[in-house]
Amino acid sequence: MTTTRVEPHTFVILGGTGDLTRRKLLPALCTLARKQLLGKRHVVLGVARDEAMNDEGFRQWAREGLVEAGFTPEGIAAWCDSCLHYQCIGRGTAREYAELGTRIAGLDSEHDLPGNRVFYLALPPGAYPGAITGLGEAGLNRSAGWTRLVIEKPFGRDLASAQELNAVAHRYFSESQLYRIDHYLGKETVQNLLVFRFANAIFESLWNRDRVRNVQITVAESLGVELRAGYYEQAGALRDMVQNHVTQLVSLIGMEVPATFDAESVRHEKIKVLRSISEIRSEDVVFGQYSTGQINGKHAAGYLEEPGVAPNSRTESYVAMRLSIDTWRWQGVPFYVRTGKRLSRRLTQIAVTFHRAPICLFESLGGCDTNSNVLVLTLQPDEGFALCFDVKEPATPFRLRTLPLHFHYREAFGEIPDAYQTLLLDTLTGDQTLFVHGDEAEASWRLYGTLLDQKPRVHSYPAGSWGPVEADRLLGGGGDAWHGPVDVVR
Ligand code: BG6
Repeated sequence: MTTTRVEPHTFVILGGTGDLTRRKLLPALCTLARKQLLGKRHVVLGVARDEAMNDEGFRQWAREGLVEAGFTPEGIAAWCDSCLHYQCIGRGTAREYAELGTRIAGLDSEHDLPGNRVFYLALPPGAYPGAITGLGEAGLNRSAGWTRLVIEKPFGRDLASAQELNAVAHRYFSESQLYRIDHYLGKETVQNLLVFRFANAIFESLWNRDRVRNVQITVAESLGVELRAGYYEQAGALRDMVQNHVTQLVSLIGMEVPATFDAESVRHEKIKVLRSISEIRSEDVVFGQYSTGQINGKHAAGYLEEPGVAPNSRTESYVAMRLSIDTWRWQGVPFYVRTGKRLSRRLTQIAVTFHRAPICLFESLGGCDTNSNVLVLTLQPDEGFALCFDVKEPATPFRLRTLPLHFHYREAFGEIPDAYQTLLLDTLTGDQTLFVHGDEAEASWRLYGTLLDQKPRVHSYPAGSWGPVEADRLLGGGGDAWHGPVDVVR
């Protein structure tokens, strides 16, 4: 989002030899460096427990990861050799954090850096409080320049743990130093929701209960739990996807126009939406778990057969909900959301369905009925939107057909940058707009507290379907149905 230049800095990654660092952080940093967006003076310090690792070993490991990510060895050699460093944190004792401080100070003077630092927690969530305390007690929460702390999702596993984590973070860091990541906010198409709504006056005047019949948000994945059962069994879809990514989409669609486009105003409006959502009743929620099925003609194992999953697990891999936002704008407009693993295809789509024309003028001409206009925003994988209209089919008999007007992001702009590039650059320039405020994280957990306590019944759905049939009943008997995927690519 930013237009500011990045100042000389040290980027410290705790969890420096982990999967996130290899798959996301180093490729994003390397791409930014190659685009010359990081400035000439910057270093990356990987911090991990591995005592056998050193600067050279870390560079070699990073090079392999970057080549796997599609970089050429020649293209990355200079950056890896000059920018990457490694520091062992051992068991994370006070002495080891002090040594980390000494190492960072050494890099500062070696590379003539003014003490600007990012600490990125690419760690298992259980390690966050210890790492934050270690940094804070070693005095690494302040420096001669700026210091920022990036915390990956999940931010807590319920309201109480999110409050505790906020308390630990605030003991050492001010809110303006904290960057809580939800990678959905870094996606270009998610940011575009704000532009779509607030730069195009035609939609804003339709964006309310007078015009909108319902809003549907689908975040579907065709992948299963893969090899992450250890984490997922404890999380489930409500914690893994709904509390963060899905809720972010609800607040971006539901928020009021911010006074200005800065972090404080945007985040304030998003928090207001979360606080306006009515308590979620158990009859407004359906949980599901995938069973054996077929995806793209291939056999897909059921959740209970996945490696590491308990044979009698009741962890939900699917959640559908009906939400009500109690504001003047949205009173009476249902927001239907659903997310799940091993669904028919990967698709993140928002469908805004408008009220029908009040009378059907053409009924007498052939018994045709008018349909609602629907605005379909596809956030991934084929980014774009479609606005669906009724048109007359040529010739006779007189017949109406609903057809879309398309916009396809890649056709217009080509490749779209990865979310992590955007978020890392924003961290480095100090733009918090696309990061989650501490109050926002708590407001979101507060919404789902009751559901976390009294887990609803978990219904089965075959892999490759669109979820349990029970989710259909959430839409009531008024003729609404889940909107099927609308392709924006012709
Ligand atoms: C992560 C979840 O936050 O988001 C994963 O932990 C999920 O379970 C992933 O697969 C989806 O992200 P994306 O960017 O592929 O939609």
